[in-house]
Amino acid sequence: MTPEDVRTLISSAEEAMANAMAPYSKFKVGAALLSGDGTIYTGCNIENPSLMLSTCAERIAILKALSEGASTFKAIAIVSNDGGYCFPCGSCRQLIHEFAPEAEVYLKSDEGIKKYTILELLPHPFEKGEQGA
Ligand code: THU
Repeated sequence: MTPEDVRTLISSAEEAMANAMAPYSKFKVGAALLSGDGTIYTGCNIENPSLMLSTCAERIAILKALSEGASTFKAIAIVSNDGGYCFPCGSCRQLIHEFAPEAEVYLKSDEGIKKYTILELLPHPFEKGEQGA
């Protein structure tokens, strides 16, 4: 990823965040996932009055991409509206590990940009067949 690639991906995440539906938490999140062929798939969080039906931005971006046939991913950028780094929730870390294990994870705050691998964010992930059964 060149610095320009990272800037483009973060801009896409920020554009997606504008569509967030977060009337309950007021915490808006945007995610942008770059596939192996260069396509960017975006997502924003969408909350629901039945709160358990709320969906994270990252999950929407990943499921959109998979449902459109993308299968390899280079990077994911995540932004939020509170000025801090939005570290993905545990479920989204598991999804990234499962479907985009090679993706570099970029988080942007008012302070700057941090870059992680998914194994830094999710050491010892659940993996089918590794549980001793
Ligand atoms: N949220 C995300 O979209 N992604 C994350 O990584 C963390 C949390 C959303 C879920 C909910 O709509 C709101 O942020 C506050 O929990």
